[in-house]
Parts: sequence; structure tokens; C-alpha cells
Amino acid sequence: MAISQNNGDNRSWHLTPLVAMNDDQFGQWVELLEKRTGICLPPERKSFLLTSLSARMRELKCQDYETYYQYLMSGKKGDMEWEVLVDRLTVHETRFFRDEFSLRLISDSFLPKYLATNDDALRIWSVGCATGEEPYSLAMLLDDYVEREGLDRNFLITATDISLGSLAKALRGQYRNNRATNVPAEFAERYINRLDADILEVKPELRQKVSFAQFNVMKLAHARPEQMDIIYCQNLLIYFKRERRIAILEHLVKHLRPGGLLVLGAGEIINWSNPLIETVNFPSTLAFRRINEPAGEQS
Ligand SMILES: C[S@@+](CC[C@H](N)C(=O)[O-])C[C@H]1O[C@@H](n2cnc3c(N)ncnc32)[C@H](O)[C@@H]1O
Repeated sequence: MAISQNNGDNRSWHLTPLVAMNDDQFGQWVELLEKRTGICLPPERKSFLLTSLSARMRELKCQDYETYYQYLMSGKKGDMEWEVLVDRLTVHETRFFRDEFSLRLISDSFLPKYLATNDDALRIWSVGCATGEEPYSLAMLLDDYVEREGLDRNFLITATDISLGSLAKALRGQYRNNRATNVPAEFAERYINRLDADILEVKPELRQKVSFAQFNVMKLAHARPEQMDIIYCQNLLIYFKRERRIAILEHLVKHLRPGGLLVLGAGEIINWSNPLIETVNFPSTLAFRRINEPAGEQS
């Protein structure tokens, strides 16, 4: 198959019209994306798919969707190419301190009560962490809380995403200065270094508190249940169909310790319940607390 990596001149590619895609082909790509990532691509996002595929195909000097599709199916090479493509087809929009209400729920309501009842190191999971602003915000919040309360308490944040490109940026921990406008001034002072007029970095001491890994939530059914104190999963489920959202949530619940907190984005699921959780009432948030299993029902 004539597909080659291209380091050549792409300067005029945006002037080339996109190759048309018929409904059958669109259906094939939508199915592939949903099967592998859970992401459901509605018809109104077809132009996004076309633009993303075409850009990548031009880089590979590949002329048509079918050839590219077959290349993706071609064993190891195809799997490596999929990692590149999935990075292009996922939305990585995020920012520091994106959801102040959910963060306030953690610092003002959850932590004071939860830390009073157990003294283990805290384990937090940021699911769909994109380029890292979310887990670093959580790390700042946690570090500040522990220090302010004078607690001798360790915490570790595991941050996962399907996109290797995003994870590489997250691991570096460097961002444009204008990305940090939401960071409260006292946190910026303590946790951020200005490298130059344009770039900032999260201080290495804080970066150490966050470990990044690739993880596809479609594989949750096969993951060893973790005992997380907080699972923070925002702006990921919105891309999935309701049945898929529920299936993922049912799995996430199994990864929570009794008393642990599951934080979603407001409105990301409605009319969902599970015997192991109760809704947490806190303004402008959507969160659930895992309750203890009734005696005799522990797995
Ligand atoms: C819009 S970002 C949300 C980032 C962050 N949670 C926030 O709220 O600011 C969604 C992230 O989910 C990731 N994602 C999409 N499908 C995924 C999957 N099946 N498994 C894990 N991560 C996925 C994308 O790569 C992207 O980085």
C-alpha cells in the first residue's frame, strides 16, 4: 500500500478541496471511532472528520479514505497510525480550574469530612485529563488544603487519557502564560514558574504528585479495580451515547473506596442511579459518594 510518512511541503494543503465522503464511508468511520473510543460522531461533525482525516492523509500522501482505512487495519503499523489519528479526532479542550464549583465541593465539603474518618494517602484519578491542566489544578488544591490544615497527609493523582499527544504535553507541564489566567494568584505564586514572557511550567515538586498514563475508558471492564478516594471525570462522557455513559459510570463506581467521591460535569448524566452511590448535594455540581456495601454483599 502506497502510504509514506511525509516531511515535505504542506503549505498549500488547505487550498486543496476535501475529498468527498459518501454516507456509507461516513458510517464506516463513525463505527470505527465509536467501537475503539466510545466517541459518537453525529452527522453535523462530518466536516470535522473530513478535515482531520484529510490533513493526516495528506501527510501520508494517501489519496483516498478507503486506502487509509485499510492501512489503519493493517496490524502493528495500523495500530501505530491509530495513535496519531485518535489524537486528531479527540477534543482536548481544557483549562486550569475549569470547574470552580466542583473544586470547591472537594476542598470545602468533601475533604474536611473524609479526611477526618481515614488516614491513608489520598488517591485521585483524573479520567480524560487531556493536556494536564485538570490534574495539576487538583494537585494545587490538594497540596494547599493539606498544608493549610497542617495535615501530614500524602496524595497521588493518576491522570489518564486515550491521547498520547495530550499526555506528552501534560507530562512536560509547560503551557503558554495566557493558559493560567484562571489559576488563583496565590496558587500561581506557589506552584508555577514563569520560564519566559510566554511560557510557564508547573513546578517540579507539584508535577511529582501527578502520574500520567494512557488509558482508554472503553477498557474499564478489564481494569483491576482501584481504590480511589476521588474520581474526577469531566467533559468526557458528553461525547458518548447514554448507554455507554452509564456502562462507564457503573465501572467507575467499582474503582471508588467506600466514602469516595465521583465528580462529573454538571448535566453529564441524568436519571442514573446505582445501589452503591448516593448523590452529593452541592450547588452547580454533579457528584456521587460511594456508600458502604450492605453486609454480606461485598465482592
Ligand atoms: C474535552 S477533554 C476534557 C479534559 C478535562 N477532563 C476537562 O474537563 O477539562 C476530553 C478528553 O477525553 C479524552 N478521551 C476521549 N475518549 C477517551 C477514551 N475512550 N478514553 C480515555 N480518554 C478519552 C480526549 O482525548 C480528551 O483529552
